[in-house]
Amino acid sequence: MEEPADIIAGAREVLRASDKGDYTIPAAGLYPHQWLWDSCFISIGIRHYDVERAQKEIKSLLRGQWLNGMLPHIIFLPGREHYRDRELFRADLNPNSPNNVATSGLTQPPMVAEAVVKIGEKLSLVEKHSWFKSTYPHIVRYHEWLYAERDPHDEGLTLQVHPWETGLDNTPPWMRALKDHKFPLWIRILSSKLLEPAVHLVRRDTRFVRSSERLTNFETLVLFSVQRRLKRKAYDIDKILDHSIFAIEDINFNCILIRANHQLKQIAKAIDAKLPEKLLESMRKSEAALESLWDEQTKQYYSRNFVTHNLIIEPSIGALMPLYAGCISKERAAELIEMLHQSKVFGPKFPVPSVPLNSSWFDPHRYWQGPVWINTNWLIIEGLKRYGFEKEAEHIKMQMIQMIKKSGFREYFSPIDGSPAGSRTLSWSAALMIDLLS
Ligand code: GLC
Repeated sequence: MEEPADIIAGAREVLRASDKGDYTIPAAGLYPHQWLWDSCFISIGIRHYDVERAQKEIKSLLRGQWLNGMLPHIIFLPGREHYRDRELFRADLNPNSPNNVATSGLTQPPMVAEAVVKIGEKLSLVEKHSWFKSTYPHIVRYHEWLYAERDPHDEGLTLQVHPWETGLDNTPPWMRALKDHKFPLWIRILSSKLLEPAVHLVRRDTRFVRSSERLTNFETLVLFSVQRRLKRKAYDIDKILDHSIFAIEDINFNCILIRANHQLKQIAKAIDAKLPEKLLESMRKSEAALESLWDEQTKQYYSRNFVTHNLIIEPSIGALMPLYAGCISKERAAELIEMLHQSKVFGPKFPVPSVPLNSSWFDPHRYWQGPVWINTNWLIIEGLKRYGFEKEAEHIKMQMIQMIKKSGFREYFSPIDGSPAGSRTLSWSAALMIDLLS
């Protein structure tokens, strides 16, 4: 793979291999279903060569929408071999789940409005109008649900109830908060060194990827335990927030929501629709509330514990996402860029690490605890460009091209030497490289 055209051809091949007709799976074996933010990123790439197929990718996501407006983070493939995955969630326990589609009971970062707008850029005026008209009601209902259920105090920040909802599964702020939470004794016992091989026997992910590149057994078990609890409460938010609450206002999620709100307003404007007043009010609050996640002492944004209202002072890639949100001041953006210039923070040879190098969590090949991911880089690049930091955006892109050229469309890479890790291919790695090179 040398020229951009070769990279694009290679990327299209990866996407073709994971194409299921109307949607694309992230990676055969490891991630065999349809994921919410994955499909959004994937459609952003596909729109460059097959805009109709990109539209299908989004439409197929919308078929999973719950009656209350939620977009689920996974739509499961049918088939007996996937029975265990569906059973883990049992979305049918909640009356709002759709009838003919098996989904999860959680959501994921709301990238849909962005994907819809980006696809719109590739359509004629008339086509764009009907594309926006057909997707707009779904996105409005989704955003209304986000505020109605996930912002119970009407503060403008939405809460997440499982790390899977952030898309950054084992990101340090969540792992630290989880460690402080009370968990059943069996988790501690099962995650002991002695039982490690036994647990790996039942873990599916470590059949595909080295265990040193995935979550630890403790993290895996805790995530499953939180999921079981949500299932026991049938994904009823009142019950979930009633007792032994574990909820975080995640910085990554909320920044993506702020950007999505902006894009939803663009869609409304283009079709001359009037967004509900209540939703507009929440949107305004979100932008203002983002500043409450800023810590003046360490000069960073953080996620916040919903119950204690304390910031979780644990740096992660989320710290840079306000660039993508786009509502912070230029001066504040410049402060964030500073971190991108420091090699021991977010500016090593191959930026941008999912955890800064000077964090005690940093591990160059371990999932969301250090490696560079193509999707978070894409989000940061979008933000940098909008704030006029073209040079920084270009540098990140050039380093990504180097890593991809050398190792292919892998799941993630070491920020120190660019060496690959995780799944052999990941659909969004391919799709977003197409977008960056087109
Ligand atoms: C992993 C990632 C998540 C992604 C999913 C499918 O769980 O953490 O963000 O959506 O894989 O690719």
